[in-house]
Amino acid sequence: MSDVPRRSVLIGAALTPLAAPLAGCAQAGKTPAQPPPTAGQVLTAAAEVPVGEARIIDGTLVTQPTAGVFKGFVARCTHAGCALAVKDGGIECPCHGSKFTIDGAVARGPATEPLKTRPVTVRGGEIIAG
Ligand code: FES
Repeated sequence: MSDVPRRSVLIGAALTPLAAPLAGCAQAGKTPAQPPPTAGQVLTAAAEVPVGEARIIDGTLVTQPTAGVFKGFVARCTHAGCALAVKDGGIECPCHGSKFTIDGAVARGPATEPLKTRPVTVRGGEIIAG
């Protein structure tokens, strides 16, 4: 006879089908964080980030809020750290639905903190880390 009480086995068996979908939900957007790009690394051509839009390159969110002004942010949600996505021109978190503006401000929670900045510069038509 096993030492595991029959009730425990029955509860475990009942919960097993629920565990996989819940784990999948918790994993949405939960990819490992990329190390930051090294200073001087070319991220993309400036022309690839139109005015008012955003792109994610190597874990860095690059935006151009106004003509000729580029900003860089860590492409991670400030709520619980999920990887952000650029969707339909907006910056969204797939985990719990936070949205951010191209200035990095919170547009919709549950996140309450703005995106963490990551310096970028423009040189010779290229956006460069650092
Ligand atoms: S981790 Fe982004 S909204 Fe929760």
